[in-house]
Order: sequence, then C-alpha cells, then structure tokens
Amino acid sequence: MEHADHFKKKRRHSKSEYQNFYFSTDTSAEMNRILLTHLTLETAYSANFCSPIHDKLRSGSKVLDVGCGPLIWSIEMAEDFRNSDFYAVDKEEPSIPKEIIPKNVKFIKGNLLEKLPFEDDFFDYIFLRDIIMCFKESDFENIVLKEIIRVLKPGGYIEIVEAELEGYEKGEALERWNVEGFQKWANASKIDYKLTLDLDNILLNTNQIEDLTHDKIILPLGNWGNYIVGSFAAETALCFIRMNEERLSPVMGISADEYRELVNQIEEEFSSKDYRAHFFYHNFIGIKKIKN
Ligand SMILES: C[S@@+](CC[C@H](N)C(=O)[O-])C[C@H]1O[C@@H](n2cnc3c(N)ncnc32)[C@H](O)[C@@H]1O
Repeated sequence: MEHADHFKKKRRHSKSEYQNFYFSTDTSAEMNRILLTHLTLETAYSANFCSPIHDKLRSGSKVLDVGCGPLIWSIEMAEDFRNSDFYAVDKEEPSIPKEIIPKNVKFIKGNLLEKLPFEDDFFDYIFLRDIIMCFKESDFENIVLKEIIRVLKPGGYIEIVEAELEGYEKGEALERWNVEGFQKWANASKIDYKLTLDLDNILLNTNQIEDLTHDKIILPLGNWGNYIVGSFAAETALCFIRMNEERLSPVMGISADEYRELVNQIEEEFSSKDYRAHFFYHNFIGIKKIKN
C-alpha cells in the first residue's frame, strides 16, 4: 500500500488525536519561526545533523524526518545526499511549491499518534526536531517513540534535537513574559515544557537504544559575544513571542497594546550589553540495539 494511503484509510480522528497539544497556530508567522529556527541551528551547529552517518548517507540510506513542518531540513539534506531517500511525515501539508521538492524527498501526510505506514526496521536514520512539545509525555513515550523505534533498523541512528525552553540570565521583561505568560499558559494547558531534560531517561527506558550521547549548545539571545547566532536566535524568540500575543495577553491580564510594549522591552533587552540572556538546544543521538 502507498504510504500516504495508509493514513487516508484510517479513521479521521483517533482518540489520542484530541490529546495533541501542539502550541503553534497554523500561520505564516509559525512558518517564519520554523525557518528562522532552522537557520539559527544550521549556523550554530555548522551542519544539519550530528550523527556519524555521512558515509552511509553518501552511499544511499533511507531517512525519516518526523514532524517535518515546512520540509526545510529534508530538502537541504536531500540536496546534499542525492543517493539517499528522505521520507517526511507531518499532519500538515507543507505550504511550499511542489517544484522545489527534490525527487528524493517523499512527503507523507499523517498523524504521528497513529501507526506509521512503514514496515519494521525500514530506516537507517530517523531525525526529530522541535517536535516533543507537541505531545503529552506519555503519548510521546508510548506512541510516537515506540513507532519510531519500530521502523528504525537495528544499528540505525535516531537523532533528536530539542530546545530547553527555560532561558537563563533573562532581563526583567523576558522574565515577566516567561513567568506570567508562557509558563502560566503551559501549566494550564498541561504542556511539559521541561520534557527535553527527561529525554535521556525516556530513550534509555525503551531498552532498545544504546550508545546514547547527549550534548547541548548555548544559544545567546541577542548579539552579545558578537555571535551572529545570537541575532538569529533573538529574532526567532521575538517571532514566537509576537505570534503568541492573542493567546498570552489574556493569560497575563494585559491589553494587546501592553503586550506589544512588553515585546519592545524584550527587544531592547536583547540588543542591550547589560544582559546575556541565553538558552540551550539539546542533541540526543542513539543507536537501535541489534537483536541477539
Ligand atoms: C515546530 S514544528 C517542527 C518542524 C521541523 N521538525 C523543523 O524542525 O523544521 C512541529 C511540527 O510537528 C507537526 N506535528 C505536531 N503534532 C503532530 C502529529 N500528531 N502528527 C504529525 N505531525 C505533527 C506540526 O504540524 C509541525 O509541523
């Protein structure tokens, strides 16, 4: 059966679909934010991935991009590794012209809370980025991750790249937005914004992943330290903060104008030399155990 047909044949709404807590709105602002994040991380890592699989990708591998969003990662990877096949799954169709999608990228519309339309042990490499916050921890662990590991070949690599949403050395305005707005809303919506820090345990608890490595990189918010990365990261954060005006101003009990004023103050903090606000991106790489 064609991979896309598998999803079409399923019931329109599975029970767990209603438990999906993805906090973006489907707008061009969110698309910009994802593209800006891609640019920030590509610059910070000087690469699109960290797993030691260059040779395999060069000679030809099967790769899965889980929750691909606008397909930017798959498109760039597919251009770099023409002999590999990239499969990308998302519940939203990427709103990009079909002509720019390389032939070795196959988009499959589907819900990650349902069975993936691939046979066991199919992929050499599976990549997830900025996706875990879309799920309740139990759904991520019991449904999404289980399926991903099922379709990964023994000896294949899984790479997860996730932000730690808690920032450090924040200025007063950013701290206020974080505590009175984002955290309050996340707690009320039962979004576990600290899930990234549990990923080591979650991956090891599967008993199917070995040689797990966990690294983190610092992303400065603003151009302190003369980091170009810091300017990109600040722009990305501002984009996220601005696009949440409608959602967070009522939570904070402030008007839209007051919210915008707060955003201006955050922007000033990012360009001031008095603050060194930053946050971290974490990178987890593991190998699926080979069965005895
Ligand atoms: C923040 S975006 C990350 C995009 C991409 N991984 C990147 O880093 O460029 C999260 C993506 O997860 C997708 N998503 C959320 N819940 C999903 C689900 N249940 N099934 C499939 N995709 C889902 C969203 O549609 C969105 O495109």
